[in-house]
Amino acid sequence: MRTLFANGTIVTADGSYPGDVLVDGETIVQIGTNLAAAGVTADEVIDATDKWVIPGAIDAHTHMKLPFGGTFAKDDFETGTRAAAFGGTTTIVDFAVQSKGKSLREGLDTWMAMAEGMAVADYGFHMIMSDVNDSSLAEMDALVDEGIPDFKLFTAYPGVFFSPDDHIFRAMQQTTKNGGLIMMHAENGPVIDKVAADLVAQGKTDPYYHGVARYPIFEGEATNRVIRLAEAAGAPVYIVHLSVKDALDQVRAARDRGAMAFAETCPQYLFLSIEDLGNGFNGAKFVCSPPLREKNPNWQELWDGLRKDDLQVVATDHCPFDFHGQKELGRGDFRKIPNGLPGVEDRVDLLFNGGVVGGQISKERWVDIISTGPAKLFGMHPRKGAIAVGADADIVVYDPNASRTISAQTHHMAVDYSCYEGWEIKGQSKIVMSRGMVIVRDGTFTGSKGHGKFLRRDRSDYARLA
Ligand code: URP
Ligand code: ZN
Ligand code: ZN
Repeated sequence: MRTLFANGTIVTADGSYPGDVLVDGETIVQIGTNLAAAGVTADEVIDATDKWVIPGAIDAHTHMKLPFGGTFAKDDFETGTRAAAFGGTTTIVDFAVQSKGKSLREGLDTWMAMAEGMAVADYGFHMIMSDVNDSSLAEMDALVDEGIPDFKLFTAYPGVFFSPDDHIFRAMQQTTKNGGLIMMHAENGPVIDKVAADLVAQGKTDPYYHGVARYPIFEGEATNRVIRLAEAAGAPVYIVHLSVKDALDQVRAARDRGAMAFAETCPQYLFLSIEDLGNGFNGAKFVCSPPLREKNPNWQELWDGLRKDDLQVVATDHCPFDFHGQKELGRGDFRKIPNGLPGVEDRVDLLFNGGVVGGQISKERWVDIISTGPAKLFGMHPRKGAIAVGADADIVVYDPNASRTISAQTHHMAVDYSCYEGWEIKGQSKIVMSRGMVIVRDGTFTGSKGHGKFLRRDRSDYARLA
C-alpha cells in the first residue's frame, strides 16, 4: 500500500516547508515537491492543502491500568491508545511496575501481557523500580539491552513506590555503567505525609488540601536533591511531571552548571491551577501529584522553560480515574483520592492552542516538545518523531484552523469527566497514520486493535553522551 500526502506544509522540529510525503508499507520512502506531477503514483492520495504534515506525536508518560489507591486507572491499552490516536498521538511510553519483593522481570511481563494484542498504535515501556537491591540492579542491564532503557524512581509515596536516597543513588550508578536513564518523581513524600496528616487532624479533608499539603518547596528540594545525586553518580537524570517554578529553578541551575538534567512538564501544570482543586469534593477530579499550582508565576515560568529548553518534553502523565466510584474513594480524606488525571487525547491540541496560537512557542517547537524531543530523549529517533526517509510512517495531517469543544460527552478516554470540559480550542488532527495505516480519518476510527506493537527502544541520545 502506497499513500501520498500531497500539497501540505511539512512542519518539523527543525523547520517548515511545502512538500509531499510518500509512504510505502510502514515507512516514509520519499519527500519532495509535486511528486504526483513528477510521476509518483500511490494507492491513495491524501490532500493536505492548507494543513500541516507533522510526525505522529509521542506521549512519553502514560499509565494504562495503573494500580493506585486500591483501584486501577480506567484506560487499558486499547482504549488509551485509541483515545491518544484521536488526538494525534501515535506512540505512548507507559510504565511497567515492579512490585515490592518481586523482580523487574515479573513486573515487565505483567505489563507486556496487558498490552499484547490490545494497542491500536505503538507503545514502549519505562520501568518503575520500587525495590532496589543487588538482584534488581543486575536486572537493569538486561532491560536496557531489551529496549526498556529507563527506570522511574520516587522520592514520593512512602510505603508504595518510595525509594530512599541510597537506593536512588545505586540505581543511578548502575545507569552510568549500562547507559540507561533514571526518571525521578521528585517530591519529598515523607514530609508531605506529615503535613497531610496534620491537615486531616485539623478537619481539613477536602481535595483542596491535597494541593496545600504538597508545598512547592517540597518539590524544589527533592528536585535539587536527585539532580545532585545524579551528578555525584555521573548519570543523566530526567525529572518527570515538573509542576512549579521552585523545581524548574533547580533544573535551570543544574543545566547552567553543565549537569545532565532534563525535565518534562504536563498540560495540567500549564493550563490548570490550585483553584481547580477547590469547589468542594468536585476538586477531586483535579487531584494529581505533584498537585496543581498557583497560576502566577508558574504557568509563565513553565512556558519560558519550554521555550529556552530547560524543559524538553510535555507528556500527559495520563492516569484516569472516574469521578464516580473512584475519585469518590477519597470523600472525607483527600489522602485516599487516587492520584492522576486523564489527558492523553487532548495534549497535542491544548499545546497547539495555548502554545502556538497563544504566542508562547513556535509551531516547530510545538512539534519538538510533543514528538521529536521525546523521540530523542527516549531512544526512538529517527524511527519516530521525524518526517524523514526511512522513518516509520507515523504521520498526522493537522488542521490549524479547525476548532472544537472539549467534553467528556465526546472524548474517547474511558473516564467520566474532562478536566477541560467546555473549553473551545483551535487545532485538530484530521488524518492520523500509524506505521502506514490510517487509524483516524476525519473523526472516525479506522484502525484496529492489535496493530500497535511493542517498541524496543535504544538508549537515550543524551545518556549516550555520558
Ligand atoms: O498523580 C499522578 N501523577 N499519578 C500517576 C502516578 C505518578 O506519580 O506518575
Ligand atoms: Zn510520578
Ligand atoms: Zn506518572
